[in-house]
Amino acid sequence: MHTLSLEKAFTLVEPGPVILVTTNDGVKNNIMTITWTMVMGFSAAFAITTGAWNYSYAALESSRECVISIPTVDMIDTVVGIGTCSGADTDKFEKFGLTALPAKHVRAPLIGECLANIECRVTDIVERHSIVVLEGVAAYLDAMRKEKRMLHAVGDGTFVVDGRRLDRKEMMRSKLPPGV
Ligand SMILES: Cc1cc2nc3c(=O)[nH]c(=O)nc-3n(C[C@H](O)[C@H](O)[C@H](O)COP(=O)(O)O)c2cc1C
Repeated sequence: MHTLSLEKAFTLVEPGPVILVTTNDGVKNNIMTITWTMVMGFSAAFAITTGAWNYSYAALESSRECVISIPTVDMIDTVVGIGTCSGADTDKFEKFGLTALPAKHVRAPLIGECLANIECRVTDIVERHSIVVLEGVAAYLDAMRKEKRMLHAVGDGTFVVDGRRLDRKEMMRSKLPPGV
């Protein structure tokens, strides 16, 4: 897992992948699966939709920290498994054989098996819409990982996998921030 410049962190979430969000409530680590996400600009600012119906929410609210971890297609059963059980009664790192790596700025752990991780602080909670706003403070990418295809949820229990990448960087140059 190598450091990725924070200016590039939005490019991990902009394609709309299924993400895993880790938290630490001061006692234990937990993970939830999230597909309702939004990139809020070129800075590493993101929004997720979640609420008190998830056990993780109390840790998000009290610690005001989390890590966005980005899994790949080979992890689909882990991703769905994490999103269909609760940290209230399950140690998900143990159950799914995942490695909790220490983060630099937050207590929530990185997931060693994921393609990328973004350490985040909670900057706002918009309760009326169940929106949690996050600010990335450090990003990491496992560039050596062979499987790099991300997963995208359709919402009906089916998923789409990354396909071909088309390059229009030159054409979009005027709309791209420096460094990407
Ligand atoms: C594919 C998938 C996508 C999900 N997306 C979201 C989401 O965007 N927001 C949300 O609040 N819950 C979402 N969930 C549900 C949570 O991941 C699930 O309730 C999880 O068990 C919460 O874990 P916790 O109770 O340990 O926090 C999703 C679940 C799955 C399987």
